[in-house]
Amino acid sequence: MAILVVGGAGYIGSHAARALRRSGYEVVIYDNLSTGFRRLTRGFELVEGDIADESRLRPVLARVDAVMHFAAHAYVGESVENPRKYFRNNVLGALSLLNSVLDAGIRRFVFSSSCAVYGIPEQIPITEQARREPVNPYGASKLFFENALAAYGRAYGMRSVSLRYFNAAGADESGEIGEIHEPETHLIPLALAASTGNGPELEIYGCDYPTRDGTCVRDYIHVSDLADAHVRALQYLEEDGIEGGGSLAINLGTGRGHSVLEIVRAAENATGRRVGRKVGPRRPGDPPILVADPAKAQSVLGWTARRNLDDIVSSAWAWMRKNLDQRMTA
Ligand code: UFG
Repeated sequence: MAILVVGGAGYIGSHAARALRRSGYEVVIYDNLSTGFRRLTRGFELVEGDIADESRLRPVLARVDAVMHFAAHAYVGESVENPRKYFRNNVLGALSLLNSVLDAGIRRFVFSSSCAVYGIPEQIPITEQARREPVNPYGASKLFFENALAAYGRAYGMRSVSLRYFNAAGADESGEIGEIHEPETHLIPLALAASTGNGPELEIYGCDYPTRDGTCVRDYIHVSDLADAHVRALQYLEEDGIEGGGSLAINLGTGRGHSVLEIVRAAENATGRRVGRKVGPRRPGDPPILVADPAKAQSVLGWTARRNLDDIVSSAWAWMRKNLDQRMTA
C-alpha cells in the first residue's frame, strides 16, 4: 500500500514518513520545499510541487492509496500578522489538495490538526468535545479544514482522521532527522541552544500566569509518538473503522503538562550546562495551560505516548549536537 506524505520534508512529516516505512508502507513525499528541507527526505522518493498544483499532483495521486497532509504554515504569531498567507495555504491550498485527492478516487485522509483549534480552553485536560474557538488565524485555518473533511465525509464518502497535536518536540532515535524550523520559535530547541552559548539567551514569555510556578504549561509530545499515531490512524481507516464516509478528530498528547521552567531544568539536565535566560513579557495569544485528555486516542487507535519529557529533551539534544558537530567540521 502506498501513501503520499504531503509536507514530508518538514519536521513532523519526515518523522511520519519513516514510521510508515518501518511499518511496511511504500512512501512518496510531496513537498514544495518552501519551509521543508531536502535533507529530511533523503532515502525517499520526493516529488516537488505545491499542494495547489493539481496537474502536478494528478500523476502522483494515481499511484497511492491514501494521503497524509502535513503541508501547512505553522507559526501562530505570523498567522496573526499575515492571515492572508495562512488562509491561502492552509485553507485554499489545502482544499485544492483535498479536491485533487477526491478526484483521484482516494477516500483515506489523515490530517495534521492542532490543539490551536480549541483556543483558550475552559477545562483542563482538554477533550475532543471541548468548545472549538480558535483565537488566531492558524487555529482557524486548521478548524476550517477539519470541518471541510467532515462535510466531504458526509457528502462524498471521504474517510478521515484529524490528529490534534499538542506540543510536538524531540527527534527520531536514528539521529538522521530532527526539528528544524527557520526561524526557530519553539521552546525546547531555543532552551537547548541557549545552554550551548550558540543561541541567544532564552526569553521566558511571562512568569505571572496562574500556574504552579507562574510560567505557561504545555503538553509536550515526542514527535516519534506522533508519527506512530499517524500509522495507527491509517490502519484504523484501512480497517474501515469509519463506516462509509466519516471523520474523526483525536487529541495527541500525553495528558501531562510541563511548565516553561520545568523545560528549562530538563534542558539543563540534558546538556549539563545552565540555560541563560531572562523573563520577558507574556507572548500575546498564549493560553496559560494546554494539556490533552488522550483517552480517545487510546480507546479508538490503541495509542498512548511511550516517551517522556527526558526522552524528548535528550533526543532533541542529540540531534542538535550532531548538527553543531557537522557545522563545525563542514
Ligand atoms: N516560550 C517561551 N520562550 C520562547 C518560546 C516559547 O517562554 O522563546 C513558551 C511559550 O510562551 C509557551 C511555551 O514556551 O508557553 C511553548 O511555546 P512554543 O512556541 O514552543 O509552542 P506553542 O505552545 O506556542 O505552539 C504550539 C505549536 C503550534 C500550535 C500551538 C497551539 O507549535 O503549532 O502550540 O497553541 F498552534
